[in-house]
Amino acid sequence: MPATVIVGAQWGDEGKGKVVDLLAEKSDLVARYQGGNNAGHTIVAGDETYKLHLVPSGILYPGTLCVIGSGTVVDPAALVTEIDALERRGIALDGLRLSSNAHLIMPYHIALDGASEMRLGRFSIGTTRRGIGPCYQDKAARTGIRAQDLLDRKILVRKLEIALELKNEIMERIYGLPRMDAIEIADTLAPVAARLESFIADTSLIVDQALRAGQNVLLEGAQGTMLDVDHGTYPFVTSSNPIAGAACAGIGIGPTRISRVVGVSKAYTTRVGEGPFPTEVDDADGMRMLERGNEFGTTTGRQRRCGWIDLVALRYAARLSGFTELALTKLDVLSGFERVRICEAYRTREGDVLTDLPYHQSVFHGCTPVYRDLDGWDVDITECRELRNLPDAARNYVQTISDAVEVPITLIGTGQGRHQVIDTVEI
Ligand code: GDP
Ligand code: IMO
Ligand code: MG
Repeated sequence: MPATVIVGAQWGDEGKGKVVDLLAEKSDLVARYQGGNNAGHTIVAGDETYKLHLVPSGILYPGTLCVIGSGTVVDPAALVTEIDALERRGIALDGLRLSSNAHLIMPYHIALDGASEMRLGRFSIGTTRRGIGPCYQDKAARTGIRAQDLLDRKILVRKLEIALELKNEIMERIYGLPRMDAIEIADTLAPVAARLESFIADTSLIVDQALRAGQNVLLEGAQGTMLDVDHGTYPFVTSSNPIAGAACAGIGIGPTRISRVVGVSKAYTTRVGEGPFPTEVDDADGMRMLERGNEFGTTTGRQRRCGWIDLVALRYAARLSGFTELALTKLDVLSGFERVRICEAYRTREGDVLTDLPYHQSVFHGCTPVYRDLDGWDVDITECRELRNLPDAARNYVQTISDAVEVPITLIGTGQGRHQVIDTVEI
């Protein structure tokens, strides 16, 4: 059985956690392939709300293997905190596996993330300050610390010393931060290492074995296409590749093992942090989305910027990841708008109309949306479970998006709860 990738189609927080949780019910293995605890994936199961940052969104189903792949960056202390908190709530963690090759976020990464943002001032990216960027930097520079290094103190100390030689200079001289000590960090990591040891494994092999055995495998993306370091709104992006293609490298499987790619998009758009966002609205409509959608970041609690759905960006996302399906979440939030707007194209400062994302950031920064207005609906759809029960205007809205993106919408979110969903085909 080939694998399925679940990927954010916008700027993150599309509702990937909920979609993964829904699909995980029929899956044997769920694996995260990139990002770290900058992610916040929410699952509402009955009266319980779970906010997952590193642990894959399949963990609520006992017996499901949950893999944190080599393409992720892992704050080991944050992972232990998350594991402990889940265990306290009665969730079994024995199915969790952490790639021995995953890079670890060290205290100096977190310090440098914050300091770099401060230094950038009004040009800051608005990162989650979890040390994500500096950790991926070290990975590329080949001075990173990996999960397997936790298992050998001598190697760990040596690698920390090498990394700190330069880091301490930067922290002290450029940012005026205190120096850090390799032994101290290794000592702090000792109990964390002891806690994580049993989870560390060759996760590429585990995923391969599951695929060979014909099991259902889900590959869970974090962040979203427009935050992709190669294809997003650079430099206002994260430091990894959320797009579906990255799932192969981030897990350690070949592209021929993937047959299905589910893009996840809100019925409107949100963004946390800085950077361009053509369909952003800061009027009463935006306020309504913010309030009804409860648009506050899962990880940092920051208010999310809100706007209408952007089909130019959505088509771009479908192209980059090869969506075979689209899940459209939070349609319920749009109930009660007199008219709903769909951005079909961008108008440049020069007046040109573009239906594809411009390749130059200066053009993109100057783009304004060209909207098509559709009738709204003033019916509560939170109890709708079938497509035919949706008001005509809502169905028309969904169909218009699907037609424009040329991807079937196979799942529609009608509320936060696990079962508040319309399966337009059995998936
Ligand atoms: P993720 O990062 O993509 O997993 O998304 P987040 O969990 O950060 O943010 C999505 C938010 O929307 C969460 O609070 C979800 O519980 C919520 N959500 C997901 N789907 C729906 C939906 O269909 N309707 C409503 N009202 N909320 C939803
Ligand atoms: P999930 O998986 C939304 C944003 C940050 C910032 C930029 C870079 O929950 O969808 P970073 O800390 O990664 O260096 O910050 O990316 N960002 C997210 N926005 N959802 C996320 O994850 C995000 N992860 C990072 O706000 O603009
Ligand atoms: Mg999130």
